[in-house]
Amino acid sequence: MPENNFDERIANSYEAKWPELFDPAVIDPVVDFLADLAGTGAALELGIGTGRIAVPLARRGVRVQGIDISPDMIAQMRRKPGSENIQVTIGDFATTKVDGTFSLAYLLRNTITNLTGQDEQVECFRNVAAHLEPGGCFVIEVYVPELRRLPPGQTIHPFTVTPAHLGFEEYDVASQIAISHHYWVVDGELETYSSPHRYVWPSELDLMARIAGMGLLGRWADWKREPFTGDSRSHVSVWQMMPQG
Ligand SMILES: C[S@@+](CC[C@H](N)C(=O)[O-])C[C@H]1O[C@@H](n2cnc3c(N)ncnc32)[C@H](O)[C@@H]1O
Repeated sequence: MPENNFDERIANSYEAKWPELFDPAVIDPVVDFLADLAGTGAALELGIGTGRIAVPLARRGVRVQGIDISPDMIAQMRRKPGSENIQVTIGDFATTKVDGTFSLAYLLRNTITNLTGQDEQVECFRNVAAHLEPGGCFVIEVYVPELRRLPPGQTIHPFTVTPAHLGFEEYDVASQIAISHHYWVVDGELETYSSPHRYVWPSELDLMARIAGMGLLGRWADWKREPFTGDSRSHVSVWQMMPQG
């Protein structure tokens, strides 16, 4: 089992630490996009967390199931009205099987990088493929590695600098790992959090999808389908199960 980086302390303060993620202006386009792809089928969220997206998606009428490694994150989801309709399995989303088949599986907010090996990331694509119906889609939202911002010899890139939150990535390009370091000032106290991530390029994700029997349906810079360009800092990518044979 991979390490659970979302313990009680992080789960209890997830919304307070990343309030921008809970802005309806952020959530609504994600729910629109996912509901459209799910159609009349069911959706599976890998790393469902506190149900930030799963709960409004279920309220929209989509049948949603989830997988997560953190019981504390799920406990937070269970406090939200509407979450009672969402079945959750505790486990590693790279390998955990759930009942049913799905028209949509999705993995948000850079969570693919929580799998810190290439084998685990490929396993995740294969696991998704095993759950998708023919023509079903897999959606990933993830950042583009910021290596172009690193001058030779430098390994640290600050990704957020505000009076209350300082965050930087510590890149090890040899192992393709970036450790995210966060420092928050909460009620005058310093809180810290670090987690390892395997950053991954869009093209590498396409190859993983192909290994799992999926092809790229589309890639955008955001949930409103703005074009993905060389300047995009993140992407929303959709792969679709290819016909077999
Ligand atoms: C960044 S949070 C995102 C939560 C939610 N998807 C959202 O958008 O707010 C990542 C979630 O993925 C879960 N997670 C990370 N690695 C996992 C793994 N290998 N298997 C299952 N869950 C995992 C964490 O416990 C956490 O709840």
